[in-house]
Amino acid sequence: MRDHILFHINGKEHRAAGAEVFATLANYLRYDAGATGTKIVCEEGDCGACTVLIRRSSREDFKPINSCIQLLCQLDGASIVTVEGLKLNGALSAVQEAMVLHQGAQCGYCTPGFIVAMSAMYETSNRVDEQQVRVGLTGNLCRCTGYEPILKAALDVDATNAPKVREIYPHVPDARDAVRVENFFAPTALADAIAFKRNHPGCTIIQGATDVGVWVTKRAFTAPAMLYLGKIEELNELKDGASITVGANVSLAAFELLIRDRIPELYRILNVFGSPQIRCAGTLVGNIANGSPIGDTLPYLFVADAQLELAGTTGTR
Ligand SMILES: Cc1cc2nc3c(=O)[nH]c(=O)nc-3n(C[C@H](O)[C@H](O)[C@H](O)COP(=O)(O)OP(=O)(O)OC[C@H]3O[C@@H](n4cnc5c(N)ncnc54)[C@H](O)[C@@H]3O)c2cc1C
Ligand code: FES
Ligand code: FES
Repeated sequence: MRDHILFHINGKEHRAAGAEVFATLANYLRYDAGATGTKIVCEEGDCGACTVLIRRSSREDFKPINSCIQLLCQLDGASIVTVEGLKLNGALSAVQEAMVLHQGAQCGYCTPGFIVAMSAMYETSNRVDEQQVRVGLTGNLCRCTGYEPILKAALDVDATNAPKVREIYPHVPDARDAVRVENFFAPTALADAIAFKRNHPGCTIIQGATDVGVWVTKRAFTAPAMLYLGKIEELNELKDGASITVGANVSLAAFELLIRDRIPELYRILNVFGSPQIRCAGTLVGNIANGSPIGDTLPYLFVADAQLELAGTTGTR
């Protein structure tokens, strides 16, 4: 069992141990890693100034998330890329060039977040249309430009000959073992998670932390113990058959993609859920378990007669 969190920032290995694992990624980037391009503005996942790219396996594409509400303890085995990491051999990326050309920045606070969010779009396409840009940038706010130059910049990018971020950073850290740091546990087996929960009754489970992260930054929330389930392989299941099975680790973005043609009514709800950054980090289980009366997926799940499988010390039900 490891006693530290292992992750990459712009291809360089970082380790976090002790109480530091409960810091937000945005604070760590700015105050420990010297990556001050990432900005902190709202610190609650709304404005996108803190957007970074993340992937947890070399088979995945890099996805945008809000680093202000992502805790270091969630990052074991992850590769993070910040706005600084988008340059290749000192040259600006195609997206950065387009933002300069179209004068997409005024005060500049929102600019790194916009650039990273746009770069995420160009990971999966070489050209994007206006609708894709508008949807892809719903998680980024700008109070200066009126958005017009930013939209023009995003549409002007031709990424055909530009390297993808996944090609610049092909590796993720080899970190498959469980992690225990103080009162934090990231097990690799469900049975170990259940045992930890039994022995730490007040423990908070975190998944994407798009709810819990805001409690931390806005309500100074601390838990007697924290349990992260993201390293438990069997909870990654996303299966489409007679019914759809969604494991606890499946992001809302992955679920949204699966149901696009299968359940268009729910797809329309997920398409306007938070932002790409929130959907890439947040999960369906978090939306159910947060107990919020305004959770957007719950009305559909009720109507569709969805079933929830709960695992605990007495088995599953
Ligand atoms: C900017 C912003 C926009 C948002 N927009 C929307 C929106 O449009 N619609 C909406 O409904 N919500 C929205 N949310 C809320 C949030 O994104 C969702 O509720 C999301 O589904 C939470 O998932 P998560 O994985 O991040 O949960 P987490 O924050 O990790 O956890 C949420 C709760 O669930 C519990 N939990 C997590 N995993 C488990 C588990 N496996 N077993 C038991 N309990 C568990 C946690 O202990 C916690 O109480 C938004 C949040 C932000 C910050
Ligand atoms: S600082 Fe606003 S979303 Fe993170
Ligand atoms: S350039 Fe000032 S907030 Fe966007």
